[in-house]
Amino acid sequence: MESSPSWFLIFSLSLPIITVLIIRLVRKRVYCNCEICQAYVESGWTKHFPNLCDWYTHLLKNSPTRTVHIHVLNNTITANPDNVEYMLKTNFDNFPKGKPFSAILGDFLGRGIFNVDGDSWRFQRKMASLELGRVSIRAYAFEIGHQEISRRLLPLLESVSAKNEILDLQDVFRRFSFDSICRFSFGLDPKCLELSLPLSKFAVSFDLASKLSAERAMIASPLMWKIKRLFNVGSEKKLRQAIKITHILAQEVIRQRRKFGFSDQKDLLSRFMSSISDETYLRDIIISFLLAGRDTVASALTSFFWLVARHPEVEAAILFEAEKIIGPNQEGLTSYKQMQKLHYLHASVYESMRLYPPIQFDSKFCLDDDVLADGSFVKRGTRVTYHPYAMGRMEEIWGKDCLEFKPERWLRDGVFFHDQNPFQYPVFQGGLRICLGKEMALMELKSVAISLLRRFRIELAQSEHVPRFSPGLTATFRDGLRVFVHARRVISSKVTDEI
Ligand code: HEM
Repeated sequence: MESSPSWFLIFSLSLPIITVLIIRLVRKRVYCNCEICQAYVESGWTKHFPNLCDWYTHLLKNSPTRTVHIHVLNNTITANPDNVEYMLKTNFDNFPKGKPFSAILGDFLGRGIFNVDGDSWRFQRKMASLELGRVSIRAYAFEIGHQEISRRLLPLLESVSAKNEILDLQDVFRRFSFDSICRFSFGLDPKCLELSLPLSKFAVSFDLASKLSAERAMIASPLMWKIKRLFNVGSEKKLRQAIKITHILAQEVIRQRRKFGFSDQKDLLSRFMSSISDETYLRDIIISFLLAGRDTVASALTSFFWLVARHPEVEAAILFEAEKIIGPNQEGLTSYKQMQKLHYLHASVYESMRLYPPIQFDSKFCLDDDVLADGSFVKRGTRVTYHPYAMGRMEEIWGKDCLEFKPERWLRDGVFFHDQNPFQYPVFQGGLRICLGKEMALMELKSVAISLLRRFRIELAQSEHVPRFSPGLTATFRDGLRVFVHARRVISSKVTDEI
């Protein structure tokens, strides 16, 4: 059979790339027969551990320095707080996100804060910190959270509880957090929680673009996806289309806002529009915020509700505190001020993210040869990863009961305290690039937690002992979080389950 000319052309064009690929693979020593690399390459770890992060935790626990190097990935992984401080603060400039990371997310995020280093990052960081520090934006975020919860989330759960159906709470939280972050950042309401409506084009293409971009990071060599991108085939073709739609829709919002005025709008985009005129740059900044604030919040809520459903004593303590501070009235979300008095709730949220951080690991790339605080040598170009998931399971940081869900460990005389070295709990990262949405995220998590727990008892439909995660940038339960929702009712001052 004769080969078609187009395939011949593709093959000839690919030859130099394939040659470079082989040279790079050989040079990078992607083959190594040490026990750890073999277990990685052959997926041997899956026989003993439910998730890759559990295997890494095991390796890190068994390393005297709490640091390991996976040769085939050219990746140094650490759970040592001194190393984390060194890379995120002390020698910050030598551990940028780096080109490999920005290449993966570059098509989608462009020059947005999440994806840049150096001056561009410094400029956006300064501008965003200024805006996010304002009382008015916090009040706006609280208002959005309040509306989303009372107008959409609670009615949705109400209807599910009446029908006694199984609900995937993870899916609901993903929709909720997308609606919230879009309204906050863009002033745009994609209405994902309106289950009667089809998902908006924006939500579908944003989801696809972030999923396919994250999948690039899972391919052994970046050259693989780069070749697919060059020929615009397979997942890269879908990614290109999804990014195009997301960008067009985002730019349309910006244009409309410019046309109809933005000075009286409260969202982040409108605030940034007064200092930036470049539309592409504005679009990139806002899309970074959507990515940063969407899956993280949904992930934190999912593991929180999974843990609380398995720990009725924690649920009872949260409800007891809420009744004491807010009173028995279930109606209306508590004020931001009242929320700050809910110390046990705050501790429970911190504790759930200690065990299940939404971002289980986070990587930088070493610019010049360096030596970490524990003496580990790191060659330039090495990927260096700190691992909050493993760090939450280290006995020397949290004590012998480190695997237990115990919000009390964050309380002293009933008051939340955090005198730990911040680099022992890098759930929101730490140092110079610490998460900009931390306060907002905590407020959102606590608002949802308290509103739902006071009205509903959540019962797990599956009683698995260990969650299994999907591969990706943010921790996602592979099978969702399937639950039954039972409405509570108020009898005098006591909240009980509906009979
Ligand atoms: C539970 C929720 C959240 C967690 C656990 C979390 C965690 C993190 C982490 C680990 C990073 C560092 C990522 C990296 O540099 O590779 C980060 C950065 C960031 N986060 Fe969050 N985040 C959360 C919610 C949010 C929200 C709601 C927003 C938006 C309002 C947000 C905005 C950002 C931004 C803009 C950055 C980039 C900061 C910089 O590069 O200087 N985050 N976050």
